Amino acid sequence: MARRVGDTFRYLPLLAVLTLWPAFAHSAEPKTEAELRNFVVQDCGSCHGLTFKGGLGPPLRPADIEPLSVEAIEAIIREGVPGTAMPPWKALLTDDEIAWISKQLKSGALL
Ligand code: HEC
Repeated sequence: MARRVGDTFRYLPLLAVLTLWPAFAHSAEPKTEAELRNFVVQDCGSCHGLTFKGGLGPPLRPADIEPLSVEAIEAIIREGVPGTAMPPWKALLTDDEIAWISKQLKSGALL
């Protein structure tokens, strides 16, 4: 039986994450701004939408996160939201990187 093309490509996003994850997790080098930008769009975007309009996770455009302070967003990124799909990122991102991401989300600079 011929496999449909769709079957082959269905797991491609998962494969991409599994392939890239170790390289990212073990890199001791501080990430450049371009790397961070890519990371946020790809990894955060996989749940929150590539343009942060929401998906599995809620939308993250400036108007959507208006009630949250930069500090509150930092805490959510650092610790995740227990009991939900939002994972903690502190093992993967430094405090500086988390602060940078929070500011970008607040300002909409990554959109
Ligand atoms: C596996 C899916 C997933 C990934 C990946 C993910 N998130 Fe989330 N995120 C969620 C979910 C689900 C929630 C909602 C949690 C809740 O119910 O309070 C959330 C909530 C949030 C919130 C709070 C939004 C609000 O209005 O309360 C912020 C901020 C956030 N995520 C940022 C990020 C950032 C930044 C990244 C990347 C570093 C990221 N998320 C990656 C699933 C994800």
